[in-house]
Amino acid sequence: MQGLTMFHCLTHRADRVGLGWCLKIAVFLTFWQSVTCLFAQPSCATKEEYKDKIHLRTFVDNDSLVTIPIVIHVIFGDEDQNVDDERLLGQIRRLNEDFRRLNPDTALTPALFKDVAADTKVEFCLAEIDPWSESTKGITRTQTFVNEIGLTQRYWQSALGGQDAWDQNRYLNIWVCEIVEDGSIAGFAEAAKMEPAGAEGIVIDYRYFGILTSGMSSFGGGRTLTHETGHWLGLSHIWGVETGCAIDDGIEDTPLQLDRYRGCPTYPQQSCGSEDMFMNFMDLTDDACMNLFTEGQKERMRRVLFTFKPNLWIQDLCENPTTSSLSPDLQRMHLFPNPTRGHLRISLGNLTLNHRIQIRNLQGQMLSYRQLDEGISISDFPPGLYLLTLETGDQSKTFKIIKTD
Ligand code: ARG
Ligand code: ZN
Ligand code: CA
Repeated sequence: MQGLTMFHCLTHRADRVGLGWCLKIAVFLTFWQSVTCLFAQPSCATKEEYKDKIHLRTFVDNDSLVTIPIVIHVIFGDEDQNVDDERLLGQIRRLNEDFRRLNPDTALTPALFKDVAADTKVEFCLAEIDPWSESTKGITRTQTFVNEIGLTQRYWQSALGGQDAWDQNRYLNIWVCEIVEDGSIAGFAEAAKMEPAGAEGIVIDYRYFGILTSGMSSFGGGRTLTHETGHWLGLSHIWGVETGCAIDDGIEDTPLQLDRYRGCPTYPQQSCGSEDMFMNFMDLTDDACMNLFTEGQKERMRRVLFTFKPNLWIQDLCENPTTSSLSPDLQRMHLFPNPTRGHLRISLGNLTLNHRIQIRNLQGQMLSYRQLDEGISISDFPPGLYLLTLETGDQSKTFKIIKTD
């Protein structure tokens, strides 16, 4: 989000509801550059960008369920910008429905695209443990006197009237605030990276967060967050970064598309010699008229997560430890490093070595069952996600381990 001076906002007053669509081009170009660098042209990055130009891992686990802890930072001026808990919860519900393809409108996906419509197996929860290991609702509320704070660099800085992000390697940060007074920008995202800057995450204008009483019309169905979460996880708009049939979104199973659609087009529409998937969450149609991510988009999003945010796969910040029945020793025990190339160590605290561990794959097959040792090697396992269970007396604790290539 370097330089809001580069910010372009294209407002189309002819929109059905007068709500402009808008692109934060500065953000988006940065995002697109890193994506194109990541996926296509290793030589396009400058030195500065180099640290993010890490190749996406070849291995990606496409089946396991990943739960991403969210923190919502509500930054408000007037009380009407102080979106209440109920609306926040309704928004997370909609996000989960869309990502798990449990949305109520899957029937509206045209037959032609039903086969590629995906359950991404990515879910979201409001964090129950904060960065200081205290229990939390996963919501912060900050009153501010800065107008249009979403347009400034202040929203992500507590010292400047906003709210600092929680560690972006462990949480998805969503700021809900006023972006522009006239409501012409619904939201934007700063893509997930290896070394996150303070602003990594998503910003949604308070008027478009949650399911509004006007229901699914235009932008009131909570899908601005679905769309921006796609950007955060490395998706570009479905037609690509520019108008034209030569420019693609880098995803195989989304048809080439000339340009954006807005409003609610009648089906079918064609461009570039194929039927357009204007009901994809990454087009700019109305909330009531979008209903799918594809398998290709799922793969890309999971690959971005797996490469840049491995900790989101192995932690359980959605479960409050004070409700756990495990002994404090077991609760404290942990494995490191994780992700690992093969070797793991266990921090035992007061526990003795007199316990057993089992290692299973996600299909539940037992790969190893042995006496606990301080060092464990899984070097001979293929890259993937494994479950390691420590058994002690009548208690057990299971860890998710990522073995990388
Ligand atoms: N302005 C946004 C963007 O281009 C969000 C568009 C969201 N669309 C929607 N139907 N809610 O990133
Ligand atoms: Zn967008
Ligand atoms: Ca495509």
